Amino acid sequence: MILMKSRFLFILFFCLSASFTGGLRAQQVHDVSVNAGSPLFEVQPTMWGVFFEDINFAADGGVYAELVKNRSFEFTHPMMGWDQVRQNATGRVVPTFYTPANSNNPHYIVIHIDAGKGAFGISNQGFRGMGIRKDNLYHFSVYARISAGSGLRMKAELINSEGAVIGASEVLDLTSDWKKHEAAIAASATDPSARLQVLFMGTGAVDIDMISLFPADTWKGRPGGLRKDIVQMIADLKPGFLRFPGGCIVEGRTIENRYQWKNTVGPVEERKLITNRWNTEMRNRPAPDYFQSFGLGFYEYFLMAEDMGAEPLPILNCGMSCQFNAGEVVPLNELQPYIQDALDLIEFANGPVTTKWGALRASMGHPESFNLKYLGIGNEQWEQQYIERYRLFEKAILQKYPGIRIVSGSGPYASGAYFDLAWTELRKLDPALIDEHYYMAPEWFLENAGRYDSYDRSGIKVFAGEYAAHGKEGQAPESRNTWLSALTEAAFMTGLERNADVVHMASYAPLLAHVDAWQWRPDLIWFDNLNVFGTPNYHVQKLFSTHRGTHVIPALKDGRPLSGQDSIYVSAVSDKASSMIYVKIVNVSGETQQVRLNLSGASFLKDGLMETLKAKGLYEYNSVSNPKNIYPFTRPVTVSGRKLLLEIEPSSVNVVKLTLRK
Ligand code: AHR
Repeated sequence: MILMKSRFLFILFFCLSASFTGGLRAQQVHDVSVNAGSPLFEVQPTMWGVFFEDINFAADGGVYAELVKNRSFEFTHPMMGWDQVRQNATGRVVPTFYTPANSNNPHYIVIHIDAGKGAFGISNQGFRGMGIRKDNLYHFSVYARISAGSGLRMKAELINSEGAVIGASEVLDLTSDWKKHEAAIAASATDPSARLQVLFMGTGAVDIDMISLFPADTWKGRPGGLRKDIVQMIADLKPGFLRFPGGCIVEGRTIENRYQWKNTVGPVEERKLITNRWNTEMRNRPAPDYFQSFGLGFYEYFLMAEDMGAEPLPILNCGMSCQFNAGEVVPLNELQPYIQDALDLIEFANGPVTTKWGALRASMGHPESFNLKYLGIGNEQWEQQYIERYRLFEKAILQKYPGIRIVSGSGPYASGAYFDLAWTELRKLDPALIDEHYYMAPEWFLENAGRYDSYDRSGIKVFAGEYAAHGKEGQAPESRNTWLSALTEAAFMTGLERNADVVHMASYAPLLAHVDAWQWRPDLIWFDNLNVFGTPNYHVQKLFSTHRGTHVIPALKDGRPLSGQDSIYVSAVSDKASSMIYVKIVNVSGETQQVRLNLSGASFLKDGLMETLKAKGLYEYNSVSNPKNIYPFTRPVTVSGRKLLLEIEPSSVNVVKLTLRK
C-alpha cells in the first residue's frame, strides 16, 4: 500500500530526448544477437497471470453479474440501495429479522400494501445504476409469501434513467408459503443507469427476500453467473494463473472481517455477507454501500480459473488482520482452525467426492478435482509474527499434502527491513515461492529492470504478485493508467522474462475497477455498467502473456543483456510448440532507434511480424469514451540474410514474431 517517492524526476528521461515523436538516431544501430538454438531455461506456464481482488467493485457490481444491490437486505442498513415507490397507493416497508430458516441471511422485509387501484413497492438502485441492454433477456427472482390478505399481485419492471418502463413481467401465484418466484424480462431499450422496481397490487402484506436480477447472457451462459464481457477481457490475457481473492481483503481490517472461504461456498442464499474492507478504507473515496455478498465465491473462482486454463492460486488468511489497520494477531495456540481451513480448502479443491469438502464441491456441480497446486498463506504480512504463523501452516500443509506448492510473502515493500527479514527467515523454511509487491514510481521500474539478475538461481522462486507503476494523478478515473506507466512496466517485464528461471509468476495489480465506484488506481481493466476496456498497461500485459514462449533465449548486445543502455530493453523467448521466437523490444527514449537482430541457432522464415504499442504522448490513456486510444497494431517485417533491421519508434513496446524453419 505504499508508494515510494521518486528519487529523481522521471520527466528527465523524455525531456532530454530530442522530442516525443522523435527523429531517427541515424548514427547508431544497436546490434542484438538472438540465438534461437540455445534455450537458456524454461518459461513457466504460470509466468504471466492475474491478481483478482474485490476492490473497486470488482466482484459485486463488477464481474458478478447480479444487478441488485443488497438483494437480501443484509447490509448494515437493511434498506440501503432501496427506495419506496408509490403509484396512486400507500404502504410501508418494515425490515424484519428472523433466524430460524437461514442464520446466514436472517433479514427479510415486510411490505404492507394498500393499493386497491394503484401499486406500491420498492425500487433498487443497482450498483451506480443497472446496465440494461436492448433486446436482452433478464432473469428476475424473489422469495416471497403473502403474510396478510389475499389475491395480491406482484410485477417486476425495468425503469430507465428517465423513469420509463423498458421491460416488465408479472408474478401472479403468490401464496402464504415461502416460495421462489421467477420471471423473465425482455428489455426494450439500453440504459447504463436503469433500476428494478418490484410493485404490488391489492391490499395486505407480503414478505420478501433475495430479490435478484441477472442478465441471461452471462459468461458460459451460467445462470446467476459472471459478466461475460469482463471475464472475456481477462481470459484474453491467457493468464497462467488466477490469484484470488486478494490482496488486503484476505486479511480484513480486523480478524472478524477477514475473508473466510467456507462462507463463500454452497447455495448463494446461504452465503454470509460481510462488509467489504475497502468500503471506507480510502478517506477520499468512501463507499459505504460496498459489501461482499460472496455470489462470487471460491467455487466460482476455481471455475473461472479452469475456464481460462489458469492455475488457481487462492491466498488464505494466516491468522493476522491487516497490519496497516487493526493488526490483530491470532495467538499461536489458537491458530489450528485457520490451518484447518487451509487443509479443508485443498480437500474442497482436490478431494474425492467421498470426502466432506470434496462432496460439497461435487454438489455444486464439479465432481472432478480442480487440481489445485498452489496455495498462498498470508498477503502483506511482516515481521516474526508472520514467520511464526507461516511456519505452522507450512508444516501442516506439507505434512498432509507434500505436493502443494506454498506461496509465502515478503510484505508490502520492495526492499528494506521487513523484506530482508522475510527472505532471510523464509529461506530457512520450505515455501515454493515468495510473493513480492511493488507499487512504485515509473522510474523505479526502469532502474529495477535488472532486479532479478542477481537473485540466487537455485533458491526459492519469486512471485511478483502485485506491481504497478504509480505516477501522475489526473481527474478522470482512468487517467492514472498513463502510457508512461505502461511503458516503464514493459521495460521492467523484459527483466522478469530474462530471469524466468527465478521469477515463476507475475501479476499486475489490481485487476479491475468500476469508473464510478473505484477506491484504488491505477488498475488493469476499467469498466462501467455497460462497457469494459483495457488500459495501456493491459495491452502491455497481453503482449507479454500471449507471447510467453516456452524458453528464454539469449538476446545480447556486446555479450550483455540490453537492459536500459541507450534506453532500450530487450528480452527474447522461443516457443517449442509453435516453432516461433518472440523478441520484446522496449524503447523508452523519445527517439526512433535502430535495432538490428542478428539471428543464429536456427534458420528463419523471411516473413515475420512486429506488434507495436505506442501513444501520442506519455500521459495519454484509454477511457470509456476512447477505449482504443492506445492499442496495438501489427506490421510485417522481413529477415534478410539472418538479419532483421528494425526502426523502433519512440516510447514504444514491440514484439517481433519470427518463425523457425523446420
Ligand atoms: O492491490 C491493492 C492492494 O495493494 C492489495 O489489496 C494489497 O495487497 C496491496 O497493498
